[in-house]
Amino acid sequence: MSWIDHSEKPPLTYPEPGTELCELTDIPAIGGKGFVFGSGTDRFPMFVIRRNDEVKGYHNECPHVGGPLDWVSDQFLDKEKTHILCATHGARFRIDNGLCISPPCPGALLTPVAVEVVDGKVFVGSDHSAAANSR
Ligand code: FES
Repeated sequence: MSWIDHSEKPPLTYPEPGTELCELTDIPAIGGKGFVFGSGTDRFPMFVIRRNDEVKGYHNECPHVGGPLDWVSDQFLDKEKTHILCATHGARFRIDNGLCISPPCPGALLTPVAVEVVDGKVFVGSDHSAAANSR
């Protein structure tokens, strides 16, 4: 008997490299901001976490059951602002590499999105796999 695995997800539709997201100062010095590109099967929600001059980008989909992480628009961090917090079941993720460090999905990883700051503006980068490999 054969069967088809329907659990495989289609490839993500990342925004084009060089897409301008916002001014760096549009994101709180320690905080986050969400963005949505496309629609339907091409819909791509993402967010950027800023820690002063450093930015990290992730696909806004929790690896636990796949929902968005923010409980209120642009609220991605826990109250200590030390970890990314999933609003649905409370998983906490490291900001620097997206690694989940608490139940219900310890060891799971957020999907990185390459982002960069150029002349005070935040842009989508070009090498998402490098962003993943840097963790
Ligand atoms: S959906 Fe994020 S912890 Fe369950």
